[in-house]
Amino acid sequence: MILGPNGAGKTTLLDRPVKAASYGNRRQLEVGLALATRPKILLMDELTSAVGPSMIDGFHQLLLSLPQDLTVRAGTVHALLGRNEVGKSTTLKSAIGHLALSAGTITFDGTVISNCLAHDVSRMGVSYVPETRDIFGALTVRENLVLAGPLAAPESDWAVERVTDFFPNLARRMTHGGHELSGCEQQKLAIGRALMTGPRILLLDEATEGLAPIVIQQIFGKLKELKASGLTILLVEQNLNFALGLADEVSLMSRDRIVWRGTAADLRRDSRPDAGSGPDDRADQSQCCRIHVLFTFGAVET
Ligand SMILES: Nc1ncnc2c1ncn2[C@@H]1O[C@H](COP(=O)(O)OP(=O)(O)O)[C@@H](O)[C@H]1O
Ligand SMILES: [Mg+2]
Repeated sequence: MILGPNGAGKTTLLDRPVKAASYGNRRQLEVGLALATRPKILLMDELTSAVGPSMIDGFHQLLLSLPQDLTVRAGTVHALLGRNEVGKSTTLKSAIGHLALSAGTITFDGTVISNCLAHDVSRMGVSYVPETRDIFGALTVRENLVLAGPLAAPESDWAVERVTDFFPNLARRMTHGGHELSGCEQQKLAIGRALMTGPRILLLDEATEGLAPIVIQQIFGKLKELKASGLTILLVEQNLNFALGLADEVSLMSRDRIVWRGTAADLRRDSRPDAGSGPDDRADQSQCCRIHVLFTFGAVET
């Protein structure tokens, strides 16, 4: 890999003996050779010592473009943000076993869950609220909730009554069909159904989509309650204020990879954060869910 502006002679460097190359170019070659082995971990010893500012900037850009894991720490809310079609929903669906990975790994609490069956992942405590909510219109609210029972983790302490205590207006709709519910009620039912499985991590895809501001406020309050109870949440969201109001940490996704991660405060402070900032230094054994986003799903190669 040779970095440099146009006209800097990158092409001619390719044909020159290495011993004639500058120290900086040799460092670039070393990084290129290391990356060519498709490493899982890249160890770099003083990459920037004795190289010029433009080359440091090039290394910086390169490292920023490398994939990072999406790591959700236990007991935190993590927001996965990014434009449409970059793969956020695909990531969540892969985590809960709705999509198979052709490469990459997803672990939950130290156990590899990629390519496990969806009901097994659910029983381990991973619950999912899909963007499309997926309420059964022909079933009543109670039936929608009860159906989630067999997917519950053995230690689940959620039941229909606890869900209706949590969302009191669902209690008044128990005998109504799913098709009779408003968007707000459907979203609450979708979250309630996920809670029925006794999650240790809740994956929420676009929970605010299509909802009125007052309803968004209600959902926000409920998620705050869940967060305060210690539930780990991975949130995919287009509503930045909503996401940053809840999230401790944020990962930004661009074209099927994580391109930045940091705290919600970092993101608020700086719309172009430095590569060095972020939660890495504080990563500890309490990691809950780790997702290697790059090389997942087969179709995308670097
Ligand atoms: N890593 C990937 N490999 C192959 N296809 C992908 C990958 N990520 C996303 N896609 C495809 O791209 C499209 C958009 O992905 P999606 O996850 O719905 O994006 P988002 O939720 O960010 O809007 C989907 O059709 C999905 O199948
Ligand atoms: Mg999506």
